[in-house]
Amino acid sequence: MRRFESCLPNQLCPLPDRRFPPQPGIVEGNVPTPFRRTPISMLTISSSLTLNNGARMPRLGLGVWQIPEGEPAYRAVQWALDAGYRHIDTARIYRNERSVGAAVRDHSVPRDEVWITTKLFPVDALRLEQAFKASRARLGIDVIDLYLVHFPPPLLVVPTWKRMERLFKEGKVRAIGVSNHGISHLEAIRKSCSIIPQVNQIHLSPYHCNWDLITYCQDHGIAIEAYSPLTRGRHLDDGRLLAIAESLSVSPAQILIRWALQHDFIVIPKSSQEAHIRANADVYGFSLSDDVMHELDAYGTTRRTL
Ligand SMILES: NC(=O)c1ccc[n+]([C@@H]2O[C@H](COP(=O)([O-])OP(=O)(O)OC[C@H]3O[C@@H](n4cnc5c(N)ncnc54)[C@H](OP(=O)(O)O)[C@@H]3O)[C@@H](O)[C@H]2O)c1
Repeated sequence: MRRFESCLPNQLCPLPDRRFPPQPGIVEGNVPTPFRRTPISMLTISSSLTLNNGARMPRLGLGVWQIPEGEPAYRAVQWALDAGYRHIDTARIYRNERSVGAAVRDHSVPRDEVWITTKLFPVDALRLEQAFKASRARLGIDVIDLYLVHFPPPLLVVPTWKRMERLFKEGKVRAIGVSNHGISHLEAIRKSCSIIPQVNQIHLSPYHCNWDLITYCQDHGIAIEAYSPLTRGRHLDDGRLLAIAESLSVSPAQILIRWALQHDFIVIPKSSQEAHIRANADVYGFSLSDDVMHELDAYGTTRRTL
């Protein structure tokens, strides 16, 4: 069937996924589940989102863009695992896959409890299989959990996606997805491919939202992963955000992470500092009311994502 709706749990997932148990309150069934809201009171650092192929992806991850290869990336990943993160987001272009892989392998948390995402850089679209193998070798792991097309490769969106589908069907990756893809790219994929992307990783925070794209993804069973959720630090001193943070005795960064989690987005704040890494995972002892969520939703200074 060349229809996205065919991508129901377990039909196209070559690897049984027993690692991230279903969260209480999430109904399992043969309907993609990502967009059934997790009851807010049940969110924990172990919460995962069930992707449209049945794989369960931890909701909170550490982003490692701009953390240099070597000691800084290695330490950041180890601190994150110590703090309870079970998901690391890297990319070929971040040039730190080796340190990420080493830190995960050396940590006492079993490898199969950690979700590792890496990404195909568009210049590698025509040599996707080699790029994938090279990332896997640098990471030093057998199966990559999520492989993303980092940006839409000009004129090659559909052929690239067909190659991604092959990797997935061969069982080399637990889930496949895209990043920075807009509705037109996703429609092109939808019309000519057999597997719907499991994830679209996009620039997303209350300050930078494209609700049309979010709605499109949610309607088509594509999980939303929020990158730059802390606005790369640019808006952490916004008075409106500070006031909300103060009223809840938490930090502005924690508010932004919590906003993403309460929207059922996957969220990958970056930090290279142990204190920030720990604080960014300490977002389960408070919740945002509907009023505060609506207030934050209305911040959007830009309507675009890409
Ligand atoms: N797919 C894509 O095209 C794409 C693009 C961009 C990013 N990403 C992914 O998304 C991840 C996160 O996005 P990002 O790196 O752009 O930025 P971000 O997570 O929005 O912000 C990171 C910045 O916030 C600071 N920070 C972190 N925690 C803090 C805290 N508790 N209090 C104050 N400041 C804090 C960090 O500084 P310190 O390090 O000093 O803590 C850093 O300067 C990336 O690492 C990457 O994995 C993907």
